[in-house]
Amino acid sequence: MADRKLDLKRLMFSMASLADLGEEATSSKDLSSKMRAALYVITGMFSVPSAALFLYHPQRHYLELLVDKGQRDKALQGITMPILSEQIKRLRPNDPQTARDLAGHAFYQRNRGLWTKLQIEMFLPLFVKGEFVGAVALGRKLGGAPFRAAEKDVLRIVAHQMAITLHNARLFLDLAEKAAENKKLYTRMQRIYHDTVEAFAAAIDAKDEYTKEHSYRVASYAVAIARELGWKKQDIEGIYIAGLLHDIGKIIVDVKVIKKTETLSAPEICEIRKHPQISYDILSKIKFPWKDIGKFVLHHHERLDGTGYPNCLKEAELSDGVKILALVDAFDAMTSNRPYRDKLPLEKAFQEVMRCKGTQFDSKITNTFFRILHKELNGEIKEPQILPHLQETDMRNIKALASGLAM
Ligand SMILES: [Fe+2]
Repeated sequence: MADRKLDLKRLMFSMASLADLGEEATSSKDLSSKMRAALYVITGMFSVPSAALFLYHPQRHYLELLVDKGQRDKALQGITMPILSEQIKRLRPNDPQTARDLAGHAFYQRNRGLWTKLQIEMFLPLFVKGEFVGAVALGRKLGGAPFRAAEKDVLRIVAHQMAITLHNARLFLDLAEKAAENKKLYTRMQRIYHDTVEAFAAAIDAKDEYTKEHSYRVASYAVAIARELGWKKQDIEGIYIAGLLHDIGKIIVDVKVIKKTETLSAPEICEIRKHPQISYDILSKIKFPWKDIGKFVLHHHERLDGTGYPNCLKEAELSDGVKILALVDAFDAMTSNRPYRDKLPLEKAFQEVMRCKGTQFDSKITNTFFRILHKELNGEIKEPQILPHLQETDMRNIKALASGLAM
């Protein structure tokens, strides 16, 4: 009667512990914390002072110690036990095995040193649907008594539960690893894109020493406006690329026309005006990860009043991206020397932009441009993107001007 009472008490304790184990296994903790908590439940359940949990790495053919409890050596985490596929086949899935059970086993013989160091009394290989996922190793019970048959039964249930937890966690880890790998690849691809595009931009600007770094400045100003307008990171990248490549079509235009210092003839104007369409034709063949690049470059010489080229589009047909490029391209042209004229002083350039606001340039974009300039002059923007490109001797004058124009 007393024995039955004791057995019932043990059974109740095991059930309660299994419930605790289930709770830990399904908690939202990270894998190590989850497994550590599970190990604490297991050691309490079987009165063992030490235990360890190993994760199996199929590609590396070893078990790696993920968490341990009760070990004197604190540097055990990450320690490995090699195990080959044919050795795994000889393990009894989710069944507790002692050192004696595994004595003739090559896996045990190979790892006997660590086995002794960890004082493993019971080894529990964890399997899910025939797939080996890891192992739990338990030390000697307090008092040295062997594991009883009923305890081994409970251990089998524990093994199933731990195996499923480990299996799910590994699936999740694999997914997280894949996502991290994809992110790395994507970042590398973006870098390659940027490098290639910057090289192209340098090639475009190199065709004409007067427009040296024009594309880079246009890209830089465009980013500043897009940022101020609250564009998404991906779209800001897109306008940066469009800025760098907006004049790529000039690669095909005769260099003599580009460098001509005298007034251009009608056929020459016609030739130079083909460059947005050529830019579009080149870029629309490339599958960029950013949208609208082709359209941005095609229309960067359009005007709100419909007097631009190549399609004489009107305000409603122009996107913000096009309007940004149209403004910053013209502004940089005004503030750089050209073969046929010297650059305008900043004051004059500002006046010219204001004069063309509403006819050539969009009002919202123009106001934003001056607002950024005002902020940059007041040190309100950490990394200024317009100011560093403007060379002006009298900055006080510019500050007063920009503050008057900012809205
Ligand atoms: Fe252009």
